[in-house]
Amino acid sequence: MLSAAEKALISSIWQKAAPNSEQLGFEALQRMLIVFPQTKTYFKHMDLSKGSADIRKHGAKVIQAIGEAALDIDNMASTLSNLSSLHAYNLRVDPVNFSFLSHSVLVVLASHLSEDFTPEAHAAFDKFLAAVAAILSEKYR
Ligand code: HEM
Repeated sequence: MLSAAEKALISSIWQKAAPNSEQLGFEALQRMLIVFPQTKTYFKHMDLSKGSADIRKHGAKVIQAIGEAALDIDNMASTLSNLSSLHAYNLRVDPVNFSFLSHSVLVVLASHLSEDFTPEAHAAFDKFLAAVAAILSEKYR
């Protein structure tokens, strides 16, 4: 459960990140694929060479979904419902992988937002990404 203060921090971080979100999404997805190479098994149909247009395009989609959830935190579960079904029933992504993407997103936010990404903002965004991951994983059960 996110507190009002955490929600305010998440919203403020997202406002700062949003103008550059496509680049952030690209960097986060690319980072996940490099740091956690086992995640590449889900993207065999894409060009996974460094800097590829496929990684850029998909990273933009992923961060857009995260942004939509951040803009309407109280309704996250319904905002993400279709994606939850997609990842559980169609893609069958092992839930362990969500933490790899979350970690990569946090690192990229830290590198772009620098001192704006305070420890408190980091903690709040980490909690938010864990909530996103929980929603995307809940239909596996
Ligand atoms: C597709 C979001 C985590 C694997 C997608 C799409 C979005 C998305 C928006 C596109 C859906 C569409 O085109 O209708 C997210 C979010 C995540 C997440 C918000 C967590 C915060 C992951 C993880 C993996 C993964 C951890 C695997 C390591 C895939 C795959 C596709 C996909 C394989 C289909 C790609 C394609 O063929 O176009 N995801 N995703 N996702 N996701 Fe995720």
